[in-house]
Amino acid sequence: MQIVKTIDEVRKTVKAWKKEGLTVGLVPTMGYLHEGHKSLIERAVKENDRVVVSDFVNPTQFGPNEDFESYPRDINADAKLCESAGASIIFNPEADEMYDNALTFVDMNKITKVLCGKTRPIHFSGVCTVVSKLFNIVQPDRAYFGQKDAQQLCVIKKMVKDLNFDIEIVGCPIIRENDGLAKSSRNTYLNADERKAALCLSRSLEIGKKMIADGETDVKTIILAIKAEIGKEPLAKIDYVEMVDFNQLETLEKVQKPLLCAMAVYIGKTRLIDNFIME
Ligand code: PAJ
Repeated sequence: MQIVKTIDEVRKTVKAWKKEGLTVGLVPTMGYLHEGHKSLIERAVKENDRVVVSDFVNPTQFGPNEDFESYPRDINADAKLCESAGASIIFNPEADEMYDNALTFVDMNKITKVLCGKTRPIHFSGVCTVVSKLFNIVQPDRAYFGQKDAQQLCVIKKMVKDLNFDIEIVGCPIIRENDGLAKSSRNTYLNADERKAALCLSRSLEIGKKMIADGETDVKTIILAIKAEIGKEPLAKIDYVEMVDFNQLETLEKVQKPLLCAMAVYIGKTRLIDNFIME
């Protein structure tokens, strides 16, 4: 398994594969890979002849007071995981390789301004820009994204449609720890007490899901119950809990599919996200 640092080298490698008629899958990541990322890579390996994993902590998607500097990095462990999952190469560029005095950015209206976009105003522009660049560099047949970042998945699907990328976007289910916590590179920030407290995200989502299964249709009632459950946890501070339709990300009043129930909650200083989708 090769770690590739330059755009040129990725392009050459992919061109040679395409000449042989091989299909290519791309799994964009920021590294510090875990079972969630691995599930995406394994799915890509099943569905494509060759798989590129990008491993790049993308500076343009972090706000000024966010965790760009402290974001965990371990390229050697990532390379091992990629190898065991059957990836062909890791693309691990330096920031200068990706953003050589770049002046062009991809931005999107409306669906990037809600949910996480309210408190992270530049985040999705950074994501759309780096993902567009990766799409142009790798030119994959398919690209894989987790439902863990449900808004990101929605934004990428819209970008691909709007900008006519000839790439199939594959959404993959959330991988969780045994106790329900969604796997995330940021879970490493949690101390033991915070790790326990973080369970209020998945626990409260389960309450919401059960209310819907039991026939509750009023969104406000469900959100109140979810917030009440999180409110019991002293280390938790809610950024948002919302129920929106899973296309336009517009707020729902009544339960109606496809729906996304999404939340961001601070556990101590760590901002965690989680959600459920009903399609
Ligand atoms: P990162 O947070 O590293 O996540 C890379 C991919 O892994 C995303 O599609 C994310 O949704 C998926 N993922 C993370 N945790 C998961 C879990 N527990 N279960 C399933 N999938 C999971 O998302 C990004 O990086 C960046 O924004 C990126 C798209 C790479 C652009 O920089």
